[in-house]
Amino acid sequence: MKDLRFGVVGLGLRVNLAEAAHRPGRGSVVAAVCDTDPATLKREAARFGDPVTSPDHRDLLGRDDLDAIILLTPDDTHESIAVECLQAGKPLYLEKPLAITVEGCDAVLRAARDTGTRLYVGHNMRHMGVVRLMRDIIRRGDIGEPKTVWVRHFVGYGGDYYFKDWHADRTRTTGLLLQKAAHDLDVVHWLAGGYTTRVNAFGDLMVYGGLPRREPGTPRPDGWPRDHTWPPTAHRDLHHVVDVEDVSVMNMVLDNGVIAAYQQCHFTPDYVRNYTVIGTEGRLENFGDGPGATVKVWNTGPTGYRPDADITYRVPDATGSHGGADTRIIEEFARFAREGGPVDTSPVAARMSVAAGYMATRSLRDGGTPYDVPSLDPSLVAYFADDRR
Ligand SMILES: NC(=O)c1ccc[n+]([C@@H]2O[C@H](COP(=O)([O-])OP(=O)(O)OC[C@H]3O[C@@H](n4cnc5c(N)ncnc54)[C@H](O)[C@@H]3O)[C@@H](O)[C@H]2O)c1
Repeated sequence: MKDLRFGVVGLGLRVNLAEAAHRPGRGSVVAAVCDTDPATLKREAARFGDPVTSPDHRDLLGRDDLDAIILLTPDDTHESIAVECLQAGKPLYLEKPLAITVEGCDAVLRAARDTGTRLYVGHNMRHMGVVRLMRDIIRRGDIGEPKTVWVRHFVGYGGDYYFKDWHADRTRTTGLLLQKAAHDLDVVHWLAGGYTTRVNAFGDLMVYGGLPRREPGTPRPDGWPRDHTWPPTAHRDLHHVVDVEDVSVMNMVLDNGVIAAYQQCHFTPDYVRNYTVIGTEGRLENFGDGPGATVKVWNTGPTGYRPDADITYRVPDATGSHGGADTRIIEEFARFAREGGPVDTSPVAARMSVAAGYMATRSLRDGGTPYDVPSLDPSLVAYFADDRR
């Protein structure tokens, strides 16, 4: 089988995904790369041998020698570039979030449907060992029927990764309850087996709003992203626009009656996600979220707190970025780009996670007012439900 030939657009921090895709002789190669920043383009192209290079993604879309596009640009560019890729007939790996508005998401889904081009949205958490383990426990019925899901998201490194560049500007992301939480909202939906229909949220910019910022047009500081700052109040060189929240809490009602909560803080000392899922016959909770972490299940009782639980599962070992998820998701995308068929991510689910985060952001900027989440056009739901796509 010949290697699939990928064109990659956007070679910033997420270039590690393109590295996972470059496996000459083993299924796929990065054959062309694009970045609007000339220095980044020159530096990062060298990782892939001697690829075609261009500062304009349109130069890649016209090339017959590229089988698919991997799009890794900032969130606010996803909608327009994705629509162009789909209209050019190139199967597309689109990083999460699908877009930064509900309308933007729906425009991308319509372009995929109208052109018949394969669309894959990069929700790599669905390929993380800890998430798959929790999903398997729930599917086996170890905790009965899931009824409520609580997620605490401790974003250590938040000052570095989310407040020193475009992430901090709401015109580029809508907000971190969409930008960052889209991952976890998707996982909540996957674990609970439903989509959010109603939300409310509170949030604030508590720490990073008052710290020194860089001039517009200046690069991220030297040493980024290797050097980290502690305590959070010691951060300097923040992005020139900082208007997204660094603390947010969100409540959700899902279409199957499940009630969920998601909490995010960007100035914690540690970086970890903690999920609790409570069902009709037990509960699970993860301790750590990478390879070697544990997921505990309590499904006898009632008793006082038992740290040993009833069953303790270990998250399998894995290598590579995001606990091995990036390698696995690219393998899945390569198979999907070649032949279609069922995959573990879903464009509809990607849209529903953005829609929940978008409406929750509106709620937190509106004093916590509850909002309904707009439903997706049923014809799009039906189109993407067909596994042959
Ligand atoms: N799934 C994950 O685990 C994960 C992790 C990190 C980031 N992301 C997502 O990946 C995407 C990229 O994030 P990042 O952290 O790499 O950002 P980044 O800012 O580090 O890199 C983005 C790159 O895209 C380039 N670029 C911007 N506009 C472009 C255009 N129109 N055409 C070509 N190149 C363009 C920039 O010059 C930059 O090099 C974002 O959507 C982000 O949300 C996903």
